[in-house]
Amino acid sequence: MPVVPATNESIDRAAQALMRGEIVALPTETVYGLGANALDAAAVAKVFAVKERPRFNPLIVHVLRREEAEAYGVVNDTARKLVSAFWPGPLSLVLPRKRGCPIGDLVSAGLDTIALRAPSHPVARALLESAKLPVAAPSANRSGHVSPTTAAHVEAELGNLPAMILNGGPCTLGLESTVLGVEGDRVTILRLGALAREEIEGVLGRKLATPKAGDEVISPGQLAVHYAPATPLRLDASKPRDGEAFLAFGPIAPRFAGPTINLSSRGDLREAATNFFAALRKLDAEGADAIAVMPIPNQGLGEAINDRLQRAAHARALSPASRSDDARPRPR
Ligand code: TXA
Ligand code: MG
Repeated sequence: MPVVPATNESIDRAAQALMRGEIVALPTETVYGLGANALDAAAVAKVFAVKERPRFNPLIVHVLRREEAEAYGVVNDTARKLVSAFWPGPLSLVLPRKRGCPIGDLVSAGLDTIALRAPSHPVARALLESAKLPVAAPSANRSGHVSPTTAAHVEAELGNLPAMILNGGPCTLGLESTVLGVEGDRVTILRLGALAREEIEGVLGRKLATPKAGDEVISPGQLAVHYAPATPLRLDASKPRDGEAFLAFGPIAPRFAGPTINLSSRGDLREAATNFFAALRKLDAEGADAIAVMPIPNQGLGEAINDRLQRAAHARALSPASRSDDARPRPR
C-alpha cells in the first residue's frame, strides 16, 4: 500500500525516495501534489508520464523560502512584495528564469519562465527540509481530472505509481494555488485559486491584469478542458431534477431526496472551496444523469470555484476527440 501516515520517519523516507529519483505524493495546504526532484530530468519525466500530462504544460517548483526561489527565478521588487505578503502559502509566481537556472527545461515546458511556490503545509515543508531539493509538483491527479484533496483521492487516481503517498489529512484550502505572472511591475492572473484576487489587489494597491484572449499559451494549464468530472454539470440550477445529484450552497438550498452535498450551509465561500473537489468526486460517483449546481457568488474564493465549474461544464461539452488532455473514461 503506497499510502503512509506522515511521520518524521516516513517523511525522511520520502525525502530519500526523491533523492533517488522516485516520485512521491505529498499533502500541501491547497491540494495533494505529485513530487519529483526538480533537478532530475528523468524524475520529472516520470511525473509527466504518470499523470499522462502533455509536455507543453509546465510544473510548479516548490521551495521553502524566497532565498531559494532566487536561485531559480528573477525575484524583482513586485515579486518580492507578493512573496513577503503571501509566502508560505497558496500563491505561485511565474518569474523569468534566472540565467544559469539549474532546473531543466522540461519543468517549465521550454518556456523562459519558471513557476515557484513555497507551501505552508507542515508535511510539505518537512519534506523539503529533509530532501534539501526543489520539488516539482503538479496536482496528484491524472491530467484533466479534478485535483485530489485527500490521500485516498490520490490513491484512487494513481494507485501505486508513486513510490509513496504521504498522508497528511485532508487539505485545508482545497483549491489549487493562485498563479500570477510577474513581468516588471505588471502582474497577470494566470490561474484563479486559493488566494482570492481581492487579497492580492489589496497588497498591490491596484487591479490585476487579465491575460488577453488568445494569450493562453502563456499559461498552458488554463486550457478549458481541465477539472472535469465524468457526469455532466448543470450550472446555475435553482432546483435539482429527478435523476440528478445536487451540489448546493448556502442556507436557502431547497430540500432534495436524491444525492446532495451542501458546500457550505452557512454560505461561507472559504468552507465551500475546501469542500469543493471532494464533493464533486463524491457526486460524480453517484452515477446521476447530471450534477445540478446552485449559483455560487462570484466574489472572493467564489470566483475560483466558478472558474473550475465553468471549465468542468465546458470539458463535457467538447467531444472526446477534441479534448487535448483527457480522453480516458473515468472508472465508476
Ligand atoms: O496548489 C497548487 O498549485 C498545486 C500544489 C501541488 O502545489 N499544484 C498544481 O500544479 O496545481 P499543476 O501542475 O496542477 O498546475 C500548475 C499550473 C498550470 O496551470 C501550469 O500551466 C501553470 O501552473 N504554470 C506552471 N509553470 C508555468 C509557467 N512557467 N508559465 C505559465 N504557467 C505555468
Ligand atoms: Mg493540476
